[in-house]
Amino acid sequence: MNILVIGSGGREHALCWALAASPVTRTLFCAPGNRGIEDVANCLAVDVMDFDGIVTACRDHDIDFVVVGPEAPMVAGLVDRLREENIKVFGPTAAAAQLEGSKGFTKDLCAEYGIPTAAYARFSEAAPAHAYVEKRGAPMVIKADGLAAGKGVIMAETVADAKAAITDILGGQFGEAGAEVVVEEFLEGEEVSFFALVDGTSVLAFGSAQDHKRVGDGDTGPNTGGMGAYAPAPIFTEAMEAEVMEKIIRPTAQGMVARGTPFTGVLYAGLMITESGPQLIEYNVRFGDPECQILMLRLFSDLLPLLLAAVDGVLDHVDVRWHDEAALLVVMATNGYPGAYDKGSEIKNLTEAAAMDGVTIFHAGTKSKGDAIIANGGRVLGVTALGETTAEAQSRAYQAVDKIDWPDGFCRRDIGHRAI
Ligand code: AMP
Ligand code: GLY
Repeated sequence: MNILVIGSGGREHALCWALAASPVTRTLFCAPGNRGIEDVANCLAVDVMDFDGIVTACRDHDIDFVVVGPEAPMVAGLVDRLREENIKVFGPTAAAAQLEGSKGFTKDLCAEYGIPTAAYARFSEAAPAHAYVEKRGAPMVIKADGLAAGKGVIMAETVADAKAAITDILGGQFGEAGAEVVVEEFLEGEEVSFFALVDGTSVLAFGSAQDHKRVGDGDTGPNTGGMGAYAPAPIFTEAMEAEVMEKIIRPTAQGMVARGTPFTGVLYAGLMITESGPQLIEYNVRFGDPECQILMLRLFSDLLPLLLAAVDGVLDHVDVRWHDEAALLVVMATNGYPGAYDKGSEIKNLTEAAAMDGVTIFHAGTKSKGDAIIANGGRVLGVTALGETTAEAQSRAYQAVDKIDWPDGFCRRDIGHRAI
């Protein structure tokens, strides 16, 4: 088959790396891709939101199957468009992508199907929202309903902070994404990213990972897209996985079918492991990044037939196997991230670092400049390693990091500390 992956991050590099290894893949394309993806796929200069351009690329290159990485094109209807054009595609329709696109939509689904999640209320006016937080008290979590590039969630320590956040969101701080606000109970516990393939009715557990969201060592400083990840997560036992499948994932798939908007693709459940068990924090309708890089490294099965099974509605006929080894990933980011940073600094010694035992380096924000590889974004590299234990994977990943010559980049030095 000829395959087209949509996206340009570490997630898409990992997906391309796994798909390139499939005997079923004839030619692999990626739009727009990055410098690392160029090594395993043919990169096409088409933007992820350029739906006409993507359809044209599919015709020009005889694409049999499209795999969509990021959420924005799914929420905007890329999957619907490709289906109308009779092009096979992995990912949810715009209606099903509401699970990520609207936090209020997901909370209402949880309420209807008894899915464990934080108590909440939805508001489109400030006054009743303010009254609600005064009644419930702090701490509280205030969220813009729509997609706000990961910035629409405010942990309010005091009632005054909660009210200010509500005023800001409904006042237009996040534009349309903040037309509604969700006010939630604060959950305490450890977070786990859990993934499941869904073909509408059937669901298949597809691995878990823990990530590190804060920029600084010891989980300090501002939130980021993720500075590292590892799996397996000791806290997430097999029994807990089974519980999440039964109490969270399966009823979600059923609820989406009942609403006439069946979900196809990968569901990424952000879970809080609380004293009373796992609770759903949020859904994403795509693979997590950097978590996807960890999943692909540990995946023993061929990825392509699994994605096809989800699209063809035959997930209950396949199963998935994983390597026993632990995997760990250290993100290297440009100095300044998640604040302002410069693009264009040169990264050296990548080939030597990637040749080390058990190490694979996925690219996020990179591009080529002549023969050189230069940084082209905030999160730039996912330095991953497998090991007999998480400690071994960690030591290999940091040895590779130390081999990379990039004075303008940095990383956390404590990825995996919770598991070691
Ligand atoms: P979200 O965009 O909904 O995933 O929220 C971003 C982050 O905020 C999550 O990864 C959690 O760390 C945190 N968070 C969101 N909702 C809650 C909650 N109800 N209780 C505690 N932490 C939360
Ligand atoms: N690692 C967090 C995300 O992909 O949203």
